[in-house]
Amino acid sequence: MFDLQSMRDQLASQYDLAPNPALAETMTDVYARMDRVVNPIEWATHAPYVAAILELKKQRNAVILAHNYMTPEIYHGVSDVVGDSLQLAIEAANVEADVIVQCGVHFMAETSKILSPDKTVLIPDMEAGCSLAESITAEGIEQMRAKYPGAPVVSYVNTTAEVKAASDICCTSSNAAQIVAAQDSHTVIMTPDQYLAQNVAKQVPQKNVVWWEGSCIVHERYTAQDLRDFREWNPGTRLIAHPECPPDVVNEADFSGSTSGILKYVTDEKPEKAMLITECSMASNIADQLPEVEFVGPCNMCPYMKKITLEKILWSLHTMTEPVVVDLDVAEKARVAVQRMIDLSQKLGV
Ligand code: 13P
Ligand code: SF4
Repeated sequence: MFDLQSMRDQLASQYDLAPNPALAETMTDVYARMDRVVNPIEWATHAPYVAAILELKKQRNAVILAHNYMTPEIYHGVSDVVGDSLQLAIEAANVEADVIVQCGVHFMAETSKILSPDKTVLIPDMEAGCSLAESITAEGIEQMRAKYPGAPVVSYVNTTAEVKAASDICCTSSNAAQIVAAQDSHTVIMTPDQYLAQNVAKQVPQKNVVWWEGSCIVHERYTAQDLRDFREWNPGTRLIAHPECPPDVVNEADFSGSTSGILKYVTDEKPEKAMLITECSMASNIADQLPEVEFVGPCNMCPYMKKITLEKILWSLHTMTEPVVVDLDVAEKARVAVQRMIDLSQKLGV
């Protein structure tokens, strides 16, 4: 459990972190990336943290990999690489720095460690979990194999290293349908997201897709009726849903895709109004680069992603905590499943 007060006291003794409008003024290039969604007073509170983190990153030879669900001051203020789960996994394998600070949830940091075993991978809060990753263990994978003998196991990257190690190949929401379609067997086991699996099953009717019953607490909350209401209340709004949403929700949407798929769709289509049926920060992060699009709410917040804050990132770099450790045997087996996904994705061009 984080001792926030002790962290704050120690940081305050080392850094001047009081709101600082004068410092904020000198960092207008950074602020310009988020000024549509972060007001100048908020920026004056973030600027001292951003300045300290940027300086520490240089001293530690560190890079910050940030998921699309990070808050705008993290996403635009301090990160070196932003993206969806697949993009972050690919970048983790390629970065040259000594230290990776993973601004996302624990399974993402583990994936980085699996792909970069010689680097120090830090996560600013060990309690940044994921309801999907927590829904299944390696024993669950063995139960599925016993139920469907010979069927390959395709596990979403939103899983622990042990689950990846027990799987044949990984997938993300960017490549799940193509990875499933490329398996030799007619029956394919997908874990742990029942809704991603059901959405993929519709895209690859030639396969018998069977699934584990996990779900994402952010995306499972949307209902098809919500989307019908949103459409009625906001005529002309484009509804764009993540494939972790239940299939009847995806059915009501105009488009469904991973977080990078959502960004590409909105960038290409430039609808006048868009509603992103996903985590709240997604729309905030892309709003500045798409001034012609009006993003209309509501959205659902991921409590795990929101455990990562600027002050915890500063603490992480200051103290070099928390280092992510993955058992070497587990990491070696998990790497096979993740690398198969990356190789197949690149071969298929997804
Ligand atoms: P993607 O960014 O791969 O679409 O994943 C979304 C997600 O929920 C990650 O936790
Ligand atoms: Fe997990 Fe859902 Fe949060 Fe992503 S948004 S980290 S899938 S709980």
